[in-house]
Amino acid sequence: MPHQPADLLRDAAWLVLTGATSAVGQAVAAAWREAGGPVLGVSRMAEGSGCDDWVVGDLRSPWSVADRVRTAVANRPVGALVHAAGLVYADAAVRTTPDEWDQTMAVNLTAAFALARTLAPLLTAPQGVVLVGSIDAHWAPRDGPDAAYGAAKAGLLGLVRHLAVEWGPAGLRVNVVLPGPMTSGMGVSAEMAAARGAGAVDGQWTSPAEVAAAVFFLLTARGITGQALAVDHGWQLGY
Ligand SMILES: NC(=O)c1ccc[n+]([C@@H]2O[C@H](COP(=O)([O-])OP(=O)(O)OC[C@H]3O[C@@H](n4cnc5c(N)ncnc54)[C@H](OP(=O)(O)O)[C@@H]3O)[C@@H](O)[C@H]2O)c1
Repeated sequence: MPHQPADLLRDAAWLVLTGATSAVGQAVAAAWREAGGPVLGVSRMAEGSGCDDWVVGDLRSPWSVADRVRTAVANRPVGALVHAAGLVYADAAVRTTPDEWDQTMAVNLTAAFALARTLAPLLTAPQGVVLVGSIDAHWAPRDGPDAAYGAAKAGLLGLVRHLAVEWGPAGLRVNVVLPGPMTSGMGVSAEMAAARGAGAVDGQWTSPAEVAAAVFFLLTARGITGQALAVDHGWQLGY
């Protein structure tokens, strides 16, 4: 039997969630809590609504945040990790500074590895690990250069495959979702959206709720591991 939301209610397992303050993160937290599990958010801010507890930390220093998360989850049943935090400078490659490159790698890629590596041995009721990537892992926007971001998100594709093989025998699944452009958060502005128009096959933009639904699906879909699931309204199918 697939693991259903009712099982989560019974397990009351914690979800560790980075990017918990983003629209995607808030929707993921709401879905997990609705299924009966508490959420430990990771954020640079002190506190906010939507999570049951918080670890305050800056993922530009991913290893120290991972240590803080390890301390926070001690003696708590932990079921899943969702890494939804993301950072983009969206600048031309020749203007990207070494510091911007390092920060982009740290928040998008190294933090995913640091947290997964820290939590994997501690998961007592494993649902899995889901990372939030981007279709920029595969495709480069002509009107918004972001080579560092694209490289970091592409790194997540390799990361989930290798971790899925390494941790599969322990029953831990690792997947990544690839959202298309959204008109929220770090996505396109209203002006850019109007000028560019959605490149998706149905003319729609990806919504945070759609991304969160895919994240929740992958958390609970036994039998799926090492996969990259695009949530982009078919954006990458046409050109
Ligand atoms: N928006 C899009 O068009 C789009 C498209 C494809 C993929 N994505 C991906 O979807 C995810 C959510 O994107 P979004 O646009 O909704 O994000 P957003 O609103 O810009 O929020 C970014 C999130 O990342 C966290 N974050 C950023 N830097 C951090 C740092 N140094 N330390 C800790 N947390 C940090 C923020 O947390 P705090 O500020 O609370 O610390 C916030 O929750 C990201 O992984 C992004 O790459 C977005």
